[in-house]
Amino acid sequence: MQQKNIIITGATDGIGLAAAKEVSKKGYHIGLVGRNPEKGKKAIETIISYSGNENLDFFECDLSLVKNVKSLSEQIKQKYNKVDVLLNNAGGANKKKIITSEGLEKTFATNQMNYFVLSTELLNIISESNDGRIVNVASNAHIGAEVDYGNINSEKSFSAWTSYCVSKLMNIMFTYQLSLMQDKVSINVLHPGFVDTNIAGNEGNLIKYIVKFGAKMFARTVDNGADSSIYLSTSDEVKGVSGKYFFKCREIKSSRASYSQEDWKKVWELCDNYKNKLI
Ligand SMILES: NC(=O)c1ccc[n+]([C@@H]2O[C@H](COP(=O)([O-])OP(=O)(O)OC[C@H]3O[C@@H](n4cnc5c(N)ncnc54)[C@H](OP(=O)(O)O)[C@@H]3O)[C@@H](O)[C@H]2O)c1
Repeated sequence: MQQKNIIITGATDGIGLAAAKEVSKKGYHIGLVGRNPEKGKKAIETIISYSGNENLDFFECDLSLVKNVKSLSEQIKQKYNKVDVLLNNAGGANKKKIITSEGLEKTFATNQMNYFVLSTELLNIISESNDGRIVNVASNAHIGAEVDYGNINSEKSFSAWTSYCVSKLMNIMFTYQLSLMQDKVSINVLHPGFVDTNIAGNEGNLIKYIVKFGAKMFARTVDNGADSSIYLSTSDEVKGVSGKYFFKCREIKSSRASYSQEDWKKVWELCDNYKNKLI
């Protein structure tokens, strides 16, 4: 069997690293994407000692900048003839309002623009696979969120939690829209559960301690939290399944708002306009 190539963003920690470890056991060649080369080196050592699979490349990229994501996609296209799976996982929340040097609010830029640009730029090379897949890590935090098109970059107001929830709603809408627009590549989206990771690591003290306390009490382990990411990336059971939302390896419904086709198009156009403007 021809070796399969998978790109995993945010593979230096948390759910992304847990997924990378398991996928390496299945014999995939993995392109790990992260912003911190020291953590990248450590992730590679961890994976090799876990599975013995040395087919690993590390791509350094700060995914909060559209230009960087474009350049990452060029590096990936130079390195591989085909990509079988793109696992868009990197993301997080920012305590304070941060506007990137490209003029985008950082949570929106990292969590949504990054997924959009990498997926659309790699779509051709993923189509080269006979089982090409894109897997997007979203969150049930999207439930209750609505996209305020006048506040995409927190022009009117900023809330760390709202920015995060809206970005995760956009992940889902973008998935549904891309699935509708083409049938060469399967694209699905998932909720990993409440998982004990570093996700609140850059948050303020109160949020950080509440999340950490809650995590110890109620959260899924990182390995369990990676279950749907691994399943959607590698299982034959979901070959050809597209445009669906998963939790614990089962299809579930996303929020009512997430099924508005009008919003799918609006989110697509919004991201496409920023992409065209910035690269
Ligand atoms: N944990 C949960 O309870 C939970 C619940 C629902 C959804 N999720 C989603 O799960 C995904 C993974 O989160 P996690 O919980 O595993 O968090 P995590 O432990 O903080 O891992 C996030 C990963 O993304 C990377 N990353 C963040 N911003 C980046 C940037 N600008 N450029 C490049 N890499 C960047 C991090 O790199 P560094 O190692 O350099 O920080 C890290 O490798 C996210 O999309 C998150 O929204 C998590």
